[in-house]
Amino acid sequence: MCGIVGYTGAQPAQPILMEGLSRLEYRGYDSAGVAIMDGDRIRLLKAKGRLSNLGALLKGSPLSGQTGIGHTRWATHGEPTDLNAHPHTDMKGDIALVHNGIIENHARLRGMLEERGCAFSSETDTEVIAHLLNLLWDGSMLSTLQRALPMLEGSYALAVLCAAEPGAIFCTRKDSPLVLGLSSQAQYLASDIPALLAHTREIELLEDREIAVLCPESVTVYDAYGAQRDLRPTHVDWDVESAEKGGYPHFMLKEIHEEPTALRKTLSAHADGHMLRRGVIPITREEAQSLSSLTIVACGTAYHAGMIGRYAIERLARLPVAVDVASEFRYRQPLLDKDDLFLAISQSGETADTLAALREAARLGARTMALTNVVGSSIAREAAPNVLYTHAGPEIAVASTKAYITQVEIMLLLAVDLAQKRGVISEEEASELLADMAEIPAQAGTLLSCEESVARFASRHYDRRHVFYIGRGMDHALAMEASLKLKEISYIMSEAYAAGELKHGTIALIEEGTLVCALLTQPHLADKTLSNIREVKSRGARVLAICTESLQEKTAAAADEVWAIPDTHPILAPLLAAIPVQLLAYHMAVSRGCDVDKPRNLAKSVTVE
Ligand code: AGP
Repeated sequence: MCGIVGYTGAQPAQPILMEGLSRLEYRGYDSAGVAIMDGDRIRLLKAKGRLSNLGALLKGSPLSGQTGIGHTRWATHGEPTDLNAHPHTDMKGDIALVHNGIIENHARLRGMLEERGCAFSSETDTEVIAHLLNLLWDGSMLSTLQRALPMLEGSYALAVLCAAEPGAIFCTRKDSPLVLGLSSQAQYLASDIPALLAHTREIELLEDREIAVLCPESVTVYDAYGAQRDLRPTHVDWDVESAEKGGYPHFMLKEIHEEPTALRKTLSAHADGHMLRRGVIPITREEAQSLSSLTIVACGTAYHAGMIGRYAIERLARLPVAVDVASEFRYRQPLLDKDDLFLAISQSGETADTLAALREAARLGARTMALTNVVGSSIAREAAPNVLYTHAGPEIAVASTKAYITQVEIMLLLAVDLAQKRGVISEEEASELLADMAEIPAQAGTLLSCEESVARFASRHYDRRHVFYIGRGMDHALAMEASLKLKEISYIMSEAYAAGELKHGTIALIEEGTLVCALLTQPHLADKTLSNIREVKSRGARVLAICTESLQEKTAAAADEVWAIPDTHPILAPLLAAIPVQLLAYHMAVSRGCDVDKPRNLAKSVTVE
């Protein structure tokens, strides 16, 4: 999705803005632009396509000045063209702004502004804001914004430059992320923390409808009612290196290699030795016992982590669990009340559908919780204090890997916690599971050494037109994630199927040479899945099986190729099996020459509906 950066200080703004934008490239975009105050004149440049196109323009005619804003646009209203790229200005060019989100009443506002003589130069919803600010201009951008914002419907993160007040950047947000980076000599803003890490780790979070005025040596924040409020900066412990490739060819590969560390950090934040830390999972024994159900809502990969959670929680804690995709949940008039627990899962904490689902669940009176990777994100703030954090560090690749694996880890911890609090398992049983879980990071580290054989396999099979993933129980949930991972970065058509369901229709698609990847990590289901492997083999499929070591021998008798993961408690096995399937997707995509970190049409954080 779109990215925003802003800088005001004593340094030339252009390189700082371009560096910030380059750190937001991973979010997905199709044009970019910057606007910089040159004395009391705003100058801007924008270009369709990659940031390097804008870089080339700026090389020919650099923009001087120490205060500026920049944007990467992911087209929603209007094609990705130079004219539709941000920043947008009023007709005189005295106001320039960048915007993330969608102004839902833009058509009505545009009509009103055109009647008053405004000529538009783009098809975007954003441009109405620039003309509206000009129409309402009263000599102060702060009060003009305060009068304009109530007229905007929809979502926005906005950063505004104004020729009458050079040196200042005005910014505000509603349902779209925007963070401020504070330092003594300069101030920054961005739609995402990684864009700020090279300059500061003191982050000020803005609430919906707050307005911040950034000057080189000061930041002033006004609440939604116009009153000035104190700053309450948060220190983030992410480092710059974690947002850089560190010698790896792609962020995705680096992030897969960071999984053992991410698993270790997430576990130690929630468990002490073989005991869950008290109060980390915000639900009391009494509450756990009186619950009638858990509803998990998320999108994409986070939804798949929720699916694994369902199997683990129903099996261990004997609590009914429903898992839904957020875009469906929010419109299906869900049935929830105070005896239901609701969990929103979101790596970014900014996914619009998940945020809306969380609000709907709270409105219905359910007890709400969130699981996210980003401190201070909208979803974390909305669910506070009931927030479970993954400690995966910044995830830059569009394809989620280390965030997914740590989400699954938290789901398993939640299962153990609920099971214990509901009296289904004893303290000893819980501590045995946690002891097995403590082994996972090291086992995951060992598994990474399978990468060479995965790469060899990918080099033989990358030209497949379609791939099926099959599994039962938790393996089916993992198959869904494996399939999404392959699709999103390699563009190979892929489907995940409950292995027992294949014969009810989909098996018709199996023909000579079809690649089927079968997951077998659940001993009680292995024989059933082996039968399903034989069914597809006898119809010509080529089968790659990923199984636990103890199932290796009998799996090898049925499949064409077998990759083994270390034995562990079956509930924990998806944490290990996720690694080869992520590596497989990665190497298939690399072999096909795909842009792994920035797959076409995708954005890292989907902040629009
Ligand atoms: C992950 O590989 C995907 N690109 C995508 O499905 C993602 O998981 C989904 O958009 C949800 O994002 P979130 O976790 O930030 O809410």
